[in-house]
Amino acid sequence: MTDIQQLAARAAQLRHELNEARHQYFIEDAPRLSDAQYDRFYHELRAIEAAHPELQSPDSPTLHVGIEPSSQFQKVAHLAPMYSLDNAFDADDLRKWEERNARIASEVRTSGYVVELKIDGAAVSLLYRDGVLVRAATRGNGVIGEDITANIRTLREVPLRLRGEGLPHQLEIRGEVYMSFSGFRELNERRAAAGEATFANPRNAAAGGLRQLDPRATADRQLRFFAYQIQLDPATHDRLPVQTQEDNLTILQSWSLPVNPQRTSAADLASVLEFADRIDRARADLDYPIDGIVVKVGPLRLWEELGVVGGRDPRWSIAYKFAPDLVTTRLLDIRVNVGRTGSLNPYAVLEPIEIGGAMVKQATLHNFEDIERKGLLIKDMVLVKRAGEVIPQVVSPLTDQRTGREYAFQIPEHCPSCGSPVEKPADEVMIYCPNPSCPDRIYWGLVHFVSQDAMDIRGLGERTARQLLDQGLLEDYADLFHLTQADLLRMEGFGELSANNLLTRIGEAKTRPLSRLLYALGIRHVGSHAAQILARHYGSLETLVQASADDYATVHGIGSTTAAALAAFVQVPGNQQLLDRLRAAGLNSIEPVEQAEQQPLKGKTFVITGTHASPRKELTSLIERHGGRITGSVTRSTDYVLLGEDPGSKAEKARELGIAMIDEQHLRQLLDGSS
Ligand code: IVH
Repeated sequence: MTDIQQLAARAAQLRHELNEARHQYFIEDAPRLSDAQYDRFYHELRAIEAAHPELQSPDSPTLHVGIEPSSQFQKVAHLAPMYSLDNAFDADDLRKWEERNARIASEVRTSGYVVELKIDGAAVSLLYRDGVLVRAATRGNGVIGEDITANIRTLREVPLRLRGEGLPHQLEIRGEVYMSFSGFRELNERRAAAGEATFANPRNAAAGGLRQLDPRATADRQLRFFAYQIQLDPATHDRLPVQTQEDNLTILQSWSLPVNPQRTSAADLASVLEFADRIDRARADLDYPIDGIVVKVGPLRLWEELGVVGGRDPRWSIAYKFAPDLVTTRLLDIRVNVGRTGSLNPYAVLEPIEIGGAMVKQATLHNFEDIERKGLLIKDMVLVKRAGEVIPQVVSPLTDQRTGREYAFQIPEHCPSCGSPVEKPADEVMIYCPNPSCPDRIYWGLVHFVSQDAMDIRGLGERTARQLLDQGLLEDYADLFHLTQADLLRMEGFGELSANNLLTRIGEAKTRPLSRLLYALGIRHVGSHAAQILARHYGSLETLVQASADDYATVHGIGSTTAAALAAFVQVPGNQQLLDRLRAAGLNSIEPVEQAEQQPLKGKTFVITGTHASPRKELTSLIERHGGRITGSVTRSTDYVLLGEDPGSKAEKARELGIAMIDEQHLRQLLDGSS
C-alpha cells in the first residue's frame, strides 16, 4: 500500500469508529469509547483531512456539529446555531489559540478572559418568549434540535418565567443540564438493584434523562442546570446592557437562572492556567462532573470580530480539557486483606489503567456491603474514579457489557491470613478476624506500632517488619526493644551501620510519651487524639490501666465506645503482660507535662473534699502534674477547695475563710490550654 492508501484506510477506519461511537453515545445512551479515546480518534481524523482534503467524505463526523436528531421528538430550529468548542490540551495549545486570535484582533492579549467550568452534561437551549419558557431543545446537529420542553419543565432550577423587566420579545438561554455525582451514584444503585443497565457516567445519565418519552422519568433523575449563554433573536436588533461575558453571567443570574459560581475573570493566560490548576486539584470536592474549563474572550465586541471557524467552533472561546478522572477498566479480581484490628478489607484488582497521569491497578471497595450494593461481579467492566490525592474507587459496574462470564464474589467465612472463622459484630458493616495472633494482624499491627504518629521508628519500614516477623525475632512489640546487632545482621540488607542505626532509633523510641505508646498499641477506637486525651487525663499507664470503662467514659472527649474498647483491651491478660513487658524493656509510661506554661496550677494549693466523678487518686495526679499541691486541711493559704458531693466540714471552713470552691468541671477548665 502507498502512504496515501494507508492514510485513506486509516481515515475510513477512524470514521467508522467515530460514527459507531456517536451512535452508541447519542442514540443508545451507552457509549463504549472513552471520551479521551474519542478525542484522540477525532483529532487524528481531523489532522488527516486537513493534510489531505481529498480524503474528506460526506459521512465524516468532523462535518457534524452533533448527530442527527432521533425521530421520537419534534425537530425544532434554534434561533441561531449552537456551536461547539475547539479543545486545548495544554498551555501551548492555549497560547497558539491566543496568537491566532491576536492576528485578527490584537486586543485579545490584553482584553482579559472569563473562565468558567466546563460542565460535563448535555447542552440545551431554552426559548423564552416575553419571559416565559415556551420551548426547550437539545443541541441536535447544532441547527436543529429535539423538542424536550416537557422534560425540561421538570427541572426545578429552570425558571418557567424569567424575573426582571425589559426582556427582549424572545431569546434563548443556553446552558448545560447535568447530574450530580451523588445523584448518579444513587441512580446507578437503584438501577443495579432493579436489574437494569447502569450508566457509564453522569453525562450519559443526564443526556438520556432529557430524552425520556415520559417526563416523569426525567423528573426521577434529579437533573440540574447551569446557564452560560444568551442568544438573542438575530432577526431583530435587540440589545442587552452587556459588554462582557461576565455581564452576561450577571444578567443571567438577575433573571433567576442558576449560574455556576466557580468562575473567574483572568487578566491573561497565566492567570487562566492558575485557575485551571486550582480547579483541577479541587475537582474531587465538586459534586458534579467537569471535564475542563472554558476560556472565553471577555469583551463581547471582540466576539463578532473573531467570528466562527468553518461554521463550527467560535474563535472567542476554547475548551481546556483536563485528564479524565473517570475511566472504564476490567475488575480482574476481588481480594481481601486483614488489617491490624482484624478487619477484613476487600479491594479491587484492576486491569491497569491510566487515570490523570497515574497508573491504577487497585481500588478500594470499603466493605463487603459496598460490593453488594454496587452489584459488582468479578470480571465486570467497571467505572473507576480517581481525583486528586484520593484513593481510586470503583464507582459501579457497566452491566450492559456483561458477557455471562462474570461471577459473584463470595464473602469469606474464614480469615484469609490465618483461617480463623470470621466474626461480624451486629452493629458494624465490617467483618473481623478474631485471632489476635493472626499473622496479617500482627504484621499490620507492627507497621502501625512503628509508624510516624505512633512510636516513630524511622528505618523500620514494611519490608523490615516482614523480615523481623519471618525470622521469628518478634513475639510481641516488646521484643523490638531487645533486638541485638547480631539479630539484625542475620537479615537481608542489613550491615553493621544500618543495624546500629536502627537500634539507635529503637532506643530513642523508648522515650516517647504515653500518648504515643497508647496510640501505637492499636486499640480499637483509640486514635491519636483520644490517646492524647487519655494520656493527659491519667498521666501514667499505671493509673490508666487501673481505671474502669465507666471511668474512661467520664473523661471529657472520650465516648462510651472508646471507653468500652479500652477497658476490653486492658482486661485481656495477654495485653496486660504486653504492657508489663514494655515497661520492663524500659519504655516510658508517663505523659510528661513539659513546659512551665503548661503548669497552670503552679504554686496553687488544693484541698479535695466530698465524692467526685473521678477517683481521688486521679484528681490528685491531675493537679500535681499541672504544678498544683494537695494539702489535707483548709487554711488561709488554700487556693481552691475541690468540692464534691457530701462535702462535710471542709466546705464550711472554706466558706468561712472565703476560699474559692470549685467542682471537677471547673478544675478541668482551669487546665484548659494545657490539656
Ligand atoms: S460555551 C459557543 N460554556 O461544552 C460555545 N460550553 O465542547 C458554547 N459546556 O456544547 C459553549 N460548560 O455543551 C460553554 N461553561 C460552558 C460550558 C460549555 C459545558 C459544553 C457545552 C458545549 C460543549 C463544547
